Amino acid sequence: MKKYTDMTAEELQSELKVVEAKYEELKGKGLSLNMARGKPGKEQLDLTSEMMDILTSDSDYMCDGIDARNYGNLDGLPSCKKLFAEILGVKPENVFVGGNASLQLMYDTISKAYTHGMKNSSKPWAKLDTVKWLCPAPGYDRHFKVSETFGMEMITVPMTPAGPDMDLVEELIRDPAVKGMWCVPKYSNPDGIVYSDETIRRIASMKPAAEDFLLMWDNAYCVHEFFCDFVPFADILGECAKYGNEDMVFEFASTSKITYPGAGVSVFVCSEGNMAYMMKLLNAQIISYDKVNQLRHVRYLKDKAGVLALMKRHAAILAPKFQCVLDNLDREIAPLGFASWQHPMGGYFISVNTLPGTAKAAWQLCKDAGLTMTNAGATFPYGKDPQDSNMRVAPSLPPIEQLQQAMEVYCTSLKLAALRKLLA
Ligand SMILES: Cc1ncc(COP(=O)(O)O)c(C=O)c1O
Repeated sequence: MKKYTDMTAEELQSELKVVEAKYEELKGKGLSLNMARGKPGKEQLDLTSEMMDILTSDSDYMCDGIDARNYGNLDGLPSCKKLFAEILGVKPENVFVGGNASLQLMYDTISKAYTHGMKNSSKPWAKLDTVKWLCPAPGYDRHFKVSETFGMEMITVPMTPAGPDMDLVEELIRDPAVKGMWCVPKYSNPDGIVYSDETIRRIASMKPAAEDFLLMWDNAYCVHEFFCDFVPFADILGECAKYGNEDMVFEFASTSKITYPGAGVSVFVCSEGNMAYMMKLLNAQIISYDKVNQLRHVRYLKDKAGVLALMKRHAAILAPKFQCVLDNLDREIAPLGFASWQHPMGGYFISVNTLPGTAKAAWQLCKDAGLTMTNAGATFPYGKDPQDSNMRVAPSLPPIEQLQQAMEVYCTSLKLAALRKLLA
């Protein structure tokens, strides 16, 4: 098959007829498919069902000498702190165990920066005229939404195969109004990129002009390999400490995609100084988080080896789904030369860069044929992709038979949008 970009107008016209016919055929099936959000499928949720049998009316709720059912231990059950410390390669005293969602901890950390300031702030950010924020993009739409809701001025930093463009980051942090940065260091959402050691070293050693610069290190996919064995990752707190930057970073993680999204356990990791500061503020807000759920997780997962064994079972379900998406793209789209994508080894997404100026149109074509995709543009600050090119594919939720149908709709829509653009 010839590349679309090499075709003559007549060749494009005849290809258009073929693709339009295929699209109409698919549309006629009245499908209802969804590849929009990175939700685990039912089979994955079922993996963890035994966890719900661990605590019953006659269970022992004592753990570490603490009754998990009662108030107390704001920073979490010691056993739960230890579990996450082992997973993240940090000390238990640097771990704060929160509630059911790390996004809530991220939002709350930024919210505190606005209302009270961070430990090293001269004033709360709400008192500043401008707060600028670095947003590696394509990135996670909900990170950008948090920034937007606080009225930050978001600055897009292009992603490279090794992580955010660090030349640009090092330039931008000279501005004292630049107060922080979002990072998803392992299997980034949506590209599935793993930051290189060099990128991590450059991030950890940054010397931002802002004294209270906040590195939001969202390690959401730290143990989420699907095509390979567990890949060890850097302890960002330790890396930052090497350069005297231990107060710059907050790392986040959760069991949302280990056990249950929305009913798991989340954590942040920070320096001792930041921990003391945050504990004081959090103490005014909540007496303690849900330690019963923490206990359930500790008894079920046990340790890092227990987590990695469970992640292997997730991988056995996810790998064929990601393979299905990649096979369809490699077979249907790659020879046509108008789009590119990453081949991630883990995480929850595949990020497709289609012909510039056609992502929105392709999204609409998918929708009209019964396939819901993440909004085109969502992977960029303010929901605006300057190239109108990036689309996020989330293969985890649909059963594999539906995924094959969804990919037929998706690839046909990509082709149709590209042909119409090239002929316009
Ligand atoms: C990068 C990233 N961070 C955080 C989350 C949400 O995590 P939680 O459920 O712990 O709030 C997601 C979910 O898709 C994500 O992709």
